[in-house]
Amino acid sequence: MTDIKKGLAGVTVDYTAVSKVNPDTNSLLYRGYPVQELAATQPFEAVAYLLWNGELPSPEELSALRKEERLHRALAPEVRAAIDLVPLDAHPMDEVRTAVSMLGADALRGSASVLDASGSPEENLSRSVRLFAALPAIVAYGQRRRRGEEPVEPRDDLDYAANFLWMTFGKESDPVIVDAFNRSMILYAEHSFNASTFTARVVTSTLSDLYSAVVAAIGALKGPLHGGANEAVLHIFNEIGEASNVGPWLDEALAAKRKIMGFGHRVYKRGDSRVPTMKAALDTLVEHFNRTDVADLYDQLESEFVSRKGIYPNLDFPSGPAYNLIGFDTLTFTPVFIASRITGWTAHILEQASANALIRPLSEYNGPAERHVEGYRPDKALAAAEAAVAGRSAESAE
Ligand code: COA
Repeated sequence: MTDIKKGLAGVTVDYTAVSKVNPDTNSLLYRGYPVQELAATQPFEAVAYLLWNGELPSPEELSALRKEERLHRALAPEVRAAIDLVPLDAHPMDEVRTAVSMLGADALRGSASVLDASGSPEENLSRSVRLFAALPAIVAYGQRRRRGEEPVEPRDDLDYAANFLWMTFGKESDPVIVDAFNRSMILYAEHSFNASTFTARVVTSTLSDLYSAVVAAIGALKGPLHGGANEAVLHIFNEIGEASNVGPWLDEALAAKRKIMGFGHRVYKRGDSRVPTMKAALDTLVEHFNRTDVADLYDQLESEFVSRKGIYPNLDFPSGPAYNLIGFDTLTFTPVFIASRITGWTAHILEQASANALIRPLSEYNGPAERHVEGYRPDKALAAAEAAVAGRSAESAE
């Protein structure tokens, strides 16, 4: 009897030097650095550099990356045109997926064949930086057009996180907000072989191009069991309304066997290593906006759910309400996650390409036993095929 590892649970499929998730010590390391240390000390651009290159940048390396990032911030006209073709009532994840597809088609123009598409390591690093630079404008424009607003030009004098908020809201954000947002971007950046990253690696393993791998990863991230959970958390907060409703709401939800979004994790079973840092960032926003009601609901739901089910919050639980307080529309939460995770995805794409093996697992067949189409006669089928070939040869000889 074959030992089936449904959902690949517990299967180790490759090495990676990008990050290490350790559920026993509840820790997450990016290239060896604890993620909470990075979130407390680094701008997101430096963490992107670390994920791609393996080391934190020197001041010169950081300013070179920032210069390059600023060059590619603006919303390209063909990307705006592609976004404008996406219906306004489509999900913004579909919009971002389409925009990245358009960027890829444009960037790879002139590739003579699919054999040229996969690119050199240098080309792929440069494509990664450009995608990283381009995504805030795409995400920001998505939210703005749904609100009936024009896009906002990027600002060269602002760092990545501040500029992202500027392009989204058309005003400069308070440093408390920029800091909380920067931390969230760092926390979302990378998490080893999660579903979307693995998807990107599978596509890369076929020697397809980086953009195709990212488009596929966006599709995987859209699912509510993965990235879509941050959006789903806010729906839950809205449904519950206030802390005093948590008990009866949970009674009903658990009786209906509902999954409570923002709780549980495939790898962490005793708490998600990123939650304390994101909860601290949420607390700064709660104080800044004077919204203790949000913190009360958060605390009540966490304590009741943990005590009833022994299942702990994941990163989406604090980030959902944090993004809401910052002012992102609920539908924009998962696209923001893309803008962060693009760094981890592309680091894995570079790693996969550098030591590639086609990813192609096996399956155990459990469908019907061999059977045959009624009336099919192999001898007749063979004779018909031979006659067709003979007919074509006679035609070409004329
Ligand atoms: N709400 C209610 N029950 C949950 C739960 C949740 N959020 N997460 C897990 N469970 C229950 C499962 O129903 C299952 O119960 P059962 O044994 O009675 O069937 C048990 O806990 C084990 O969970 P399982 O689904 O096998 O864990 P998994 O490792 O396959 O799944 C998730 C992990 C993330 C898919 C799952 O926890 C989940 O769906 N969470 C909600 C979505 C979410 O927040 N995703 C973001 C992840 S970062």
